[in-house]
Amino acid sequence: LFNKIPRAPPDKILGLTEQFSKDTNNNKVNLTVGVYKDDKGLVSTFPTVAKAQKILEQGEKMNSDFSYLPIIGSPSYRISTLNFLFRDSCPESGPKLLEQERVSFVQTLSGTGALAVAADLLAQFVSRTVWVPRPSWPNHVNIFKRHGFSDVREYPYYEDGKLDVDEWITHLRKNVKKNEGVRHCIILHACCHNPTGLDPTMKQWQQILDTIHELEMIPIIDMAYQGLESGNPVRDAYVLRMCLDKSRYESWPHGLFLCQSFAKNMGLYGERVGSLSVVVPPNQPDSKDNVESQLKQIVRSMYSSPPGYGCRVATMVLSNDNFKRDWYKNVETMVQRLLNVRQGMYDRLGWKGLLNFEQQHGMFFYTGLKPHALNRLREEYSIYMTMDGRLSLSGINDSNIDYVCDALKAISD
Ligand code: LMR
Repeated sequence: LFNKIPRAPPDKILGLTEQFSKDTNNNKVNLTVGVYKDDKGLVSTFPTVAKAQKILEQGEKMNSDFSYLPIIGSPSYRISTLNFLFRDSCPESGPKLLEQERVSFVQTLSGTGALAVAADLLAQFVSRTVWVPRPSWPNHVNIFKRHGFSDVREYPYYEDGKLDVDEWITHLRKNVKKNEGVRHCIILHACCHNPTGLDPTMKQWQQILDTIHELEMIPIIDMAYQGLESGNPVRDAYVLRMCLDKSRYESWPHGLFLCQSFAKNMGLYGERVGSLSVVVPPNQPDSKDNVESQLKQIVRSMYSSPPGYGCRVATMVLSNDNFKRDWYKNVETMVQRLLNVRQGMYDRLGWKGLLNFEQQHGMFFYTGLKPHALNRLREEYSIYMTMDGRLSLSGINDSNIDYVCDALKAISD
């Protein structure tokens, strides 16, 4: 039987890091995964996070309590994360939702875990059809397929160097019929679209949200990069704020899913700290607890309960106003470095004006390079980028920026 198990393909992002580790070229550069590195090439801990860690480690609780967390996660993490997402980030509409008990919540294994748990719940009770932008983070399709979605479709997002919002809206209007008996979910990148780094304008978002609301689709907001667009995590929650704006949308009649992570904006990658919030429709008094009871069952059967260390650190940062303020400053510093690197690359490459480079933001630079050029970069220069032409900006620093830009120019000539 075992000789019938075929070899699975390497992961489109993490698989390249495995290959990078084996590369013996001293000049090799890893620009694949979205992990922030400082200008020395190190994945250093955010200063505020390090401070929070220190305080925790001095406290008795931390060292003595490695017991299991509850299935749906730490109660204090729950309070501080819900406050951050629904009070700080959505001050107009969020507090009311919390008071009305309309948000089911579960601590998750980062954003990936949130998406997996959301997909499981939806596939079991609500829908098996999801729309994913083309292009998108490759794991979206993997997750939804593995967690019960039989129908994973793509909506046009980016073509030939630009976003095509009109085409996106037209495509949905043509293909989503609300009275057909099929519920359609849609994945929305909250900001810093991965991989393109291009997001719709506010006006375009309004048109998009009006359309998906009218078509009674179920929004699944993937907010993995909150803060990496503007440098301010609160500001970057604009899609969530727009969705929850009561003056525009009375409610999302089939729920709204928010998958969120502190991997990038707190640098807690390997600690797997994230959450899934499900905003349930109004006037359904049992829905919040019913949904949460199902989330609990899903988590219990998948991995039992989440890990404890990272969420304690995040809670410490989120629950103290001084820490929170300092954390925002750390995010701003990170974003400033990403902007500097981006600018340094534009200046060296002279590719300005092409492919909307000036409008891109966040952790990535979407180059538009095709696979043959990317293979040359890897084989001739040991520069590793993902095969969709995405480059993780923070892998660039003063010691390799010229090497990378010269190689990019050489292979694209
Ligand atoms: C990325 O896109 O590089 C990150 O989201 C890391 C990952 O898990 O793929």
